[in-house]
Amino acid sequence: MAKPQTRFVCQQCGGSFPKWAGRCDACGGWNTLVEEVIRSGPPKSLGKSVLGKTKGPRLTFSSLIGEAQEMPRRVSGIGEFDRVCGGGMVPGSALLVGGDPGIGKSTLLLQVLAALGLGERSAKFRCAYISGEESLDQVRLRAARLRVERAPVELAASTSIRDIAASIDSADGPDVVVIDSIQTMYLDTLDSAPGTVSQVRAAAQELIRLAKERGFCVVLVGHVTKEGVIAGPRVLEHMVDTVLYFEGERGHQFRILRAVKNRYGPTDEIGVFEMTDRGLAEVPNPSALFLADRRNEVNGAAVFAGMEGTRPVLVEIQALVAPPSYGTPRRAVIGWDGNRLAMVLAVLEARCGLQIGARDIYLNVAGGLRITEPAADLAVASALVSSLTLRPVPPDTVVFGEVGLSGEIRQVSQAEARLKEAAKLGFSAALMPRRRGRGAARELEPGLAVRELQHLRQLVAIFGDAPQGSERALSSAGARS
Ligand code: TYD
Ligand code: MG
Repeated sequence: MAKPQTRFVCQQCGGSFPKWAGRCDACGGWNTLVEEVIRSGPPKSLGKSVLGKTKGPRLTFSSLIGEAQEMPRRVSGIGEFDRVCGGGMVPGSALLVGGDPGIGKSTLLLQVLAALGLGERSAKFRCAYISGEESLDQVRLRAARLRVERAPVELAASTSIRDIAASIDSADGPDVVVIDSIQTMYLDTLDSAPGTVSQVRAAAQELIRLAKERGFCVVLVGHVTKEGVIAGPRVLEHMVDTVLYFEGERGHQFRILRAVKNRYGPTDEIGVFEMTDRGLAEVPNPSALFLADRRNEVNGAAVFAGMEGTRPVLVEIQALVAPPSYGTPRRAVIGWDGNRLAMVLAVLEARCGLQIGARDIYLNVAGGLRITEPAADLAVASALVSSLTLRPVPPDTVVFGEVGLSGEIRQVSQAEARLKEAAKLGFSAALMPRRRGRGAARELEPGLAVRELQHLRQLVAIFGDAPQGSERALSSAGARS
């Protein structure tokens, strides 16, 4: 018998190489190549008919205009989850829920299944939870802790795709199936070990095909590696309809479910949960939670009025500008992009004349949220200038706006929604970009004193020109330490 042909497949990007190497040439990942058996034989060509045309049945093309059906949704009643899915799960769709181990994926999905099964706020659905990681007793214990042990969820512990497919492939099968996790599943027709790219890909393909055929929703749980990609199956992201990431800092009780891809709804939508001793609790008003520990009148803190998907979220940005230490200045950023921080610092230095570049800088987004919007630039700049000058940002003020390289402050989307949320939470003032065009005439939130800025210099002027004072304070702070 011929020796089976093997290739070395990168477990991160799926790139395949004839030889092992320490580093994947395709994605640059270290130590990611694993030997996998591949099916031999070149692919056959489609073949031509006697007339020289490609053989096969013809497709009937249709036009874009036509009756499109409204998607029926499977609504769980857990509002934060349903919204991130775009208003509920769509029958026949595949979801991928990624996240670090221990972040709460199994907990969340068990709660969602229980809610779907009980159907308190919508129709009841038949749900199945298939665990490849935990024993039935472990799942039952968790259910008891979550107080959902009476919910009609069908449990199974299995890692064989063949067994799973045989059990759910029937007309009266479940409506929603959770596979926890896809990395533990294996298909016995493949030779590679469970968890390898080819196994994960084939297992997912099989389940997704079945879901489309039978019309159930399949939810695949995927672990995330240290680098922040779903282990191995980057390829999986392309195969499923919706990719949700469950994230959060270990030390914080907040958990954020983020849609990064959704064929049936908006992306960038987030759902906020709090981990309690009875599982995950919804946080319908995250701004109040993120601002709960805020103290007014401290320097180095600014409240950013951000947008997460369709929802405004207010969050505190904290900066600490410390006297320079020896060598290269330190930069530590949590919850924001380090490159954008470098840009804002450079603009403050070059366009506003602040001596800030040589200092150590620490930036933190309070509450464990991760911000990706450029609209946070102005709030970051405010926190930085406030920390440098030792003067607090004007009280009860929210800040938003993008900063350009010449120091100009650029407009951002959905200013009205941001201001509305700020007014709702009791803020009385806002620093924002100057409006132009049609939006400029529109009346803004009445309860807010809005200050429109055009250039970063105007922001710096709000804090007064007190670098000398700060110099003294900084050196005394340095002397103390
Ligand atoms: P889990 O859902 O097992 O994480 P994942 O499936 O993503 O690996 O989450 C387990 C963590 O959640 C664990 O550290 C304990 C914590 N937890 C609570 O704090 N309260 C609870 O009610 C439950 C069930 C778990
Ligand atoms: Mg788990």
